[in-house]
Amino acid sequence: MTIILGIESTAHTFGIGIVKNGKVLSNVRDMYSTLSGGIIPLEAAKHHCENSERIYFESLEKSGIKEKDIDAIAFSQGPGLAPCLLEGVKFAKQIAEKLNKPVVPVNHCIAHLEIGKITGAKNPVMLYASGANTQIIAYESGKYRIFGETLDIGVGNFIDNFAREMGIGFPGGPKIQELAGQSKNYIELPYIVKGMDISLSGILTNLKQKFESKKYSKEDLAYSMQETVFAMLIETAERALAHTGKKELLLGGGVSCNSRFQEMCKKMCSEREAKFFVPSRDLLVDNGAMIAFLGEIMFKKKIKIDKKDFNNLDIKPRQRTDEVNVSWK
Ligand code: ATP
Ligand code: FE2
Repeated sequence: MTIILGIESTAHTFGIGIVKNGKVLSNVRDMYSTLSGGIIPLEAAKHHCENSERIYFESLEKSGIKEKDIDAIAFSQGPGLAPCLLEGVKFAKQIAEKLNKPVVPVNHCIAHLEIGKITGAKNPVMLYASGANTQIIAYESGKYRIFGETLDIGVGNFIDNFAREMGIGFPGGPKIQELAGQSKNYIELPYIVKGMDISLSGILTNLKQKFESKKYSKEDLAYSMQETVFAMLIETAERALAHTGKKELLLGGGVSCNSRFQEMCKKMCSEREAKFFVPSRDLLVDNGAMIAFLGEIMFKKKIKIDKKDFNNLDIKPRQRTDEVNVSWK
């Protein structure tokens, strides 16, 4: 029996999840949000610092687990915003020292993918569409490789930026989805796919100009943005499926909560007879359970850092998915 506590703190969300033998027992999180304007890293870090104790005890209570039964503390080592990651590692160390347990450093992006296994996916191509990250990842020859990605900004940040332009606070994704649902009027936008990569900054500029011209409604712009950008993402994912010969598509990241996006992915999969997997919302967005889940897999392969080596504990704000040594597989 293994019980792992996982801490997520890469960006706006501070979350703690507890996993026992691959089963999620609790997954508590709190998100720093703003009414207008984007995320301020130091403010988000302050939010994490102020909420960590409360979330820790709430998560413990929900799981029904006693502190002493935890085997290890997993934490998001990167990629992410340095001030936020520092709060996470600080808290992980504090708890690990108190309980006299090791810590397990986890890559955030791979955790998004691994938690998808809970839905039954075995060897998927993952379309990872979140705030800062937009990548197509799959396991091949001993590594999680990035087959395609955004050449500039992440799709979530792109949507949030567009929302901010229209006077909507952070996060903009859910509100944009609501607006998009009220239109069926497609306005032509640039469509930028280069092989398995996409580019979004030109579309953002185009959308901003269209909005400022006052010739288009918010609803029409939101609808057209979703149809265009989601089609771009799905085109690259389909290419990755063809390239790798894999037969499963898995979604990850906060943008994957979008129901129109899910519907379009499902359609593509059924057309090419691939299986489609999407975790529940609380496991799609940034969360501690996915960190605990991958932490458990790694811990079972003896990947851990013991107390005597805590001085070497570091964060990796720019860690890339394909840099990670996947020695647990
Ligand atoms: P990363 O994994 O890159 O660190 P992140 O920290 O920004 O990402 P997530 O929680 O995975 O975190 O995703 C947040 C993003 O998801 C935000 O940009 C938000 O606007 C977007 N989002 C949430 N719900 C929806 C939705 N229904 N439609 C589109 N986007 C959404
Ligand atoms: Fe994320």
